[in-house]
Amino acid sequence: MKLAIGCTLIAAGLVVGSAQAQSGESWHRTPMITVISSDSDSRLGLVDEAVSFWNKTLEEAGSAFRLGAVTRLVQPAPEEALTSLGESVLAARGGSVYVPQVFHDMPGDLIIVLADSDFISFAGPFFGNSKRVIGIKGIRHPPLTLPNVARNVIAHELGHAIGFRHNNDPTKLMCGRPWSCRPDLFRSDEPRMFPLTDDEKRQLVRMYPAGWKSDSPAAQPMQIERGRYMVLTGHCNNCHTAGYAQKEGDVSEAAWLLGSGPQGWRGPWGTTYASNLRINAHAMTEDGWVSYMKTFKARPPMPWWSIRETSEADLRAMYRYIRQLGPAGAPAQPFLPPEKEPKPPYIQYPMPGK
Ligand code: HEC
Repeated sequence: MKLAIGCTLIAAGLVVGSAQAQSGESWHRTPMITVISSDSDSRLGLVDEAVSFWNKTLEEAGSAFRLGAVTRLVQPAPEEALTSLGESVLAARGGSVYVPQVFHDMPGDLIIVLADSDFISFAGPFFGNSKRVIGIKGIRHPPLTLPNVARNVIAHELGHAIGFRHNNDPTKLMCGRPWSCRPDLFRSDEPRMFPLTDDEKRQLVRMYPAGWKSDSPAAQPMQIERGRYMVLTGHCNNCHTAGYAQKEGDVSEAAWLLGSGPQGWRGPWGTTYASNLRINAHAMTEDGWVSYMKTFKARPPMPWWSIRETSEADLRAMYRYIRQLGPAGAPAQPFLPPEKEPKPPYIQYPMPGK
């Protein structure tokens, strides 16, 4: 089974013409890194250097978080998929982006692709424990040809993958759009890594405190699997996924839980539209989701009373499953009061008998 077929990139990326990077969500587990490159790519050593730079910085800041082991895979970079991913990140500016399947099929949590072609280096998506991709453009294309630039571009993109956004200080590693920093500022005849700001060092420990612990890698997929099972057998898709009931469940997982679309339910309460749970879950913390699910009441036909009976462990599993699908689509249409005539299609509920 493929999880997370459709994902969203919440902006990203360094540099010239790049989207402004959003701060990402912090990791819940130690990310295992996979580097895809050609056999003799001179940047492989720079990736190791960038990973040690961040791990040393984390250690010095007193954080318990570390980037995980780096696995090298010698295989052709999926140039086309990478270019289109980079372009959609740029175009979307925080909206939803389709992450090509080829990245989901790669091993590891954080995929670093050392490409050959010319595009704007980027990092994303930045939610939950989903896969994050870093695309580094070809070393033959300026400004990566300048001494010391590739080293810092790789470390900069890793910074996004850890959770940082851009700052406005051209002497620092995370400088970028909308400020006027460009990666050629990293040029130096001496190899050196640009530093973090003091603020960023403090932010690092806030994101990943001394007591940070990795979720057990074994527990994680099992919990997500359980959440998927709860969503399926809890019938959430029947209403929260457009066309699902009509097609007897034959809707791709990428389109699950994006809301009931144009179709409403009309009755004495007015007309309701099933919400986009991918967007709504994304706006909540896990604890917030649990307490909301235990207390909320919604209009018909939402069976809120059965959700209250769901165990906390299962609610957490559902949250993790929905989160890793990524926030996509648009919020549901607003509720219409009884006197408002809805546009078809809608399902008409009978008025209660007198
Ligand atoms: C029979 C149809 C139906 C089923 C089944 C259903 N929902 Fe809903 N749900 C709705 C509708 C319609 C609304 C909007 C109600 C309103 O506007 O007050 C809604 C609202 C909600 C809300 C509140 C709005 C929000 O997003 O914060 C949550 C949470 C929710 N559903 C979660 C679920 C989950 C989880 C499941 C599966 C366990 C599920 N629903 C199953 C129809 C359904």
